[in-house]
Amino acid sequence: MKKAETPPPFIAFPHRHLLGIEGLSPPEITALLDRSEIYVEQNREADKKRARLVGRTVINLFFESSTRTRTSFELAAQRLGGDVINMSVMTSSVKKGETLIDTAMTLNAMHPDVLVVRHGDSGATQLLSEKVNCAVINAGDGSHEHPTQALLDALTIRRRLGRLQGLQVAICGDILHSRVARSNIHLLGTMGARVRLIAPKSLLPCGIERMGVEVFHDMKDGLKDCDIVMMLRLQSERMRGNFFPSTREYFRFFGLDYDKLANAKPDALIMHPGPMNRGVEIDSEVADDIGRSVIREQVEMGVAVRMACLEALSVNLAKAEGRA
Ligand code: CP
Repeated sequence: MKKAETPPPFIAFPHRHLLGIEGLSPPEITALLDRSEIYVEQNREADKKRARLVGRTVINLFFESSTRTRTSFELAAQRLGGDVINMSVMTSSVKKGETLIDTAMTLNAMHPDVLVVRHGDSGATQLLSEKVNCAVINAGDGSHEHPTQALLDALTIRRRLGRLQGLQVAICGDILHSRVARSNIHLLGTMGARVRLIAPKSLLPCGIERMGVEVFHDMKDGLKDCDIVMMLRLQSERMRGNFFPSTREYFRFFGLDYDKLANAKPDALIMHPGPMNRGVEIDSEVADDIGRSVIREQVEMGVAVRMACLEALSVNLAKAEGRA
């Protein structure tokens, strides 16, 4: 099997932390996506390891559950030759009442290079980045941002359709609680795509139109001629009270089935960040549609994107240390 060439040094991401997509420029986003492309190919080879993170320590600090993000950050760090520690909050001193800052500063005292943080509060990762000495990557903070998810979504779209510019993307479902939606709105808007949001009024934040999106409350209207249909889970863990009478009613009006999908372009891609609730926001057959669903590809892209992000921040650390 042909071995991928060692990629050239990464120079185009001049940030100490990755806390959100908001504020990133088109060239910075493009640099991360281009770099991720290299790692997609490398991850398909028998020899997946590259020595880009040797000597670096990455700590995954997840205060909320995760399958895709935590595992792919771990794989990403390992494939780049870094040391990686997974902190389980369930068995940590958080359970004894230790605060977020005390936990982070305890880890900071062990000299990690990158903290990958998921937390239920919007702004938690920003707060930590102001306290610790290492780089911080936001792996999802409350309903604020999930930057690496938007990057992997963009990579999936770009590889399938060859561009982001000019595409019509519909993001459907629980926008109110979705950090994935917010990061995608920033990224897609920055890269020249048009974004529609489709949701019941109770699941849309007030004033969301100010982010430059079109808002629809009817799936058939909103999906008309879309290139991409991105479905979101109802985040019941963030809801106080009922936002919709029942999940059956929700599926009837806002669940993606073939009948509603027929309004999008015939070759529209179906996306979902996961985890899915089949039969609530998406019909099981639609989710598994071999020709149109790219949900598993999104997961694959996640490892490559996280490798590119870890590499970008470690290059900046080396520069700050006078080693690059
Ligand atoms: N999309 C996503 O963040 O999935 P996990 O919660 O499994 O990490």
